[in-house]
Amino acid sequence: MKILFIGDVVGSPGRKMVQEYLPKLKEKYKPHVVIINGENAAAGKGITEKIYKQFLEWGAQVVTLGNHAWDKREIFEFIDDAKYMIRPANFPEGTPGNGIAYIQMNGTEIAVINLQGRTFLPAIDDPFRTVDHYITEAKKRTNLIFLDFHAEATSEKQAMGWYVDGRVSCVVGTHTHVQTADERILPAGTAYITDVGMTGPYDGILGVQRDAVMKRFLTALPVRFDIDEKGRNQLSGVVAEMDQKTGKAKEIKRILINDDHPFFG
Ligand SMILES: [Fe+2]
Ligand SMILES: [Fe+2]
Repeated sequence: MKILFIGDVVGSPGRKMVQEYLPKLKEKYKPHVVIINGENAAAGKGITEKIYKQFLEWGAQVVTLGNHAWDKREIFEFIDDAKYMIRPANFPEGTPGNGIAYIQMNGTEIAVINLQGRTFLPAIDDPFRTVDHYITEAKKRTNLIFLDFHAEATSEKQAMGWYVDGRVSCVVGTHTHVQTADERILPAGTAYITDVGMTGPYDGILGVQRDAVMKRFLTALPVRFDIDEKGRNQLSGVVAEMDQKTGKAKEIKRILINDDHPFFG
């Protein structure tokens, strides 16, 4: 069972990269499931119903979110019907939407969980206690569990990887928009990477026009952040393979496509 995950898709440059490269990545890696983090898919902030449906049309089975989940107001109108879009499971009780989705693939069920960290991010429920609850729930149905842990601190993400080692098939970190080169299989069988990185502008700063970000650092004045629409683009992802029965990971590979790391099909 192979899962392809694409990290934080930022605005139209990111969506263009998904549209262009997803067919090529499917051809090359032949994943059974595709998961996309879409928290920045609408102009860098949030997601719309149209974009969510586009991701499914292009071949994704599940869309995950993060701290930008609520940035587009229309999400409150479609989140309850968007069965394959999940927001962090540790958002406070009563929050719209779900933190877990189940999908069927080749007669096997896969659980996908989304969680958000608390270090340098808003104080929400404990992701560690929450993951215990969701693993217990998912294990009643399947051993194949995928976790997108949307968090800022590398330490919090590593802690999560080790905490669920052997209980979850694959943990990918998202949110920082910078890919880390630490992909590995942890000793009890969990595929892990601290951050997958982003999909979208390559010459901006985390996807934002770099002049504005530099001005902010140089002056500390409030600055409007827009997506860098004109520069070169990149795609960041991972492909992980797990045993269909046991759910243990066999392999995890990093994917980075940009002008400095060209794609060879
Ligand atoms: Fe993001
Ligand atoms: Fe984020």
